[in-house]
Amino acid sequence: MQVVENKSEIHELSCRARTDGRVLALVPTMGALHEGHLSLVRAAREVADHVTVSIFVNPSQFGDGEDLPRYPADLEGDLAQLEALSIDVVFTPNVDEMYPPGAATTVHVKGADAHLCGPFRPGHFEGVATVVAKLFTICRPDRAVFGLKDAQQYLIIKRMVRDLGMSIEVIGIPTVREYDGLALSSRNRYLSDAERKEAFVTSRAVFAARDLILAGERNPDAVCAAMQREIGASPLARLQYTEVVDVATIAPVEVIERGQDVVAATALYIGDTRLIDNQFVNAP
Ligand code: PAJ
Repeated sequence: MQVVENKSEIHELSCRARTDGRVLALVPTMGALHEGHLSLVRAAREVADHVTVSIFVNPSQFGDGEDLPRYPADLEGDLAQLEALSIDVVFTPNVDEMYPPGAATTVHVKGADAHLCGPFRPGHFEGVATVVAKLFTICRPDRAVFGLKDAQQYLIIKRMVRDLGMSIEVIGIPTVREYDGLALSSRNRYLSDAERKEAFVTSRAVFAARDLILAGERNPDAVCAAMQREIGASPLARLQYTEVVDVATIAPVEVIERGQDVVAATALYIGDTRLIDNQFVNAP
């Protein structure tokens, strides 16, 4: 496994792998790797024979007052876990490598951030799309693997790839969860014991939404009300939003149509920790 900080070096490694006839996959991460990340890496291994994992805490996707200064880091632990999975290359650029002084180009998938987390995290998805576009340009993957846990991020990256005509297959991997349903997240480590015990209402809410839609509920307000009831059961939870959006438009639906692909999603705070969860559902 090679650990590379420099983009020209990674570019060269990718080109060499391609010349050797290998299929390249990229798994972008911000490190502090957990089983959720590792499931993406394993999936990449299955669909490619040259796998690059990037570890870069991207400042441009954090807003003022967000957790950039305390974002967890454990490079040594991350590298040990990736070594065990026989990854080919780990890309660990610094901020200047990704954002050369004077860098002024960004990628904004217009309208795709108008709902869900977008309004609560201004600039976040522009930061994500920009850094992922840079990683794609540098690493030149055939396939890129993302978690469905970050549903809006996944849908935005797919849209960017389509809009810009990038020949990259974007693969979405189901959310890995704890014993009580809580989606694994690097941010779960911010939770106190008491908060952790109640955090499972996040997944309870989206499971309730999924079950209602699968039972034939057509009214998104009823689905949101069910999510809010689950979240209301925890005195520590502060709701930010519940929404049911169409997968293609990333905009709220008025009626859930038969055969429609929707995402039921929520964001909430438990104490100071912001948690998100969602379920992709094909309405029966
Ligand atoms: P990060 O939060 O480190 O997540 C890296 C990838 O792991 C994302 O595709 C995310 O959806 C996926 N992931 C996180 N938790 C997961 C879980 N419990 N189950 C399955 N997959 C999970 O997302 C980012 O980093 C950044 O925004 C990034 C795409 C790297 C751009 O900076």
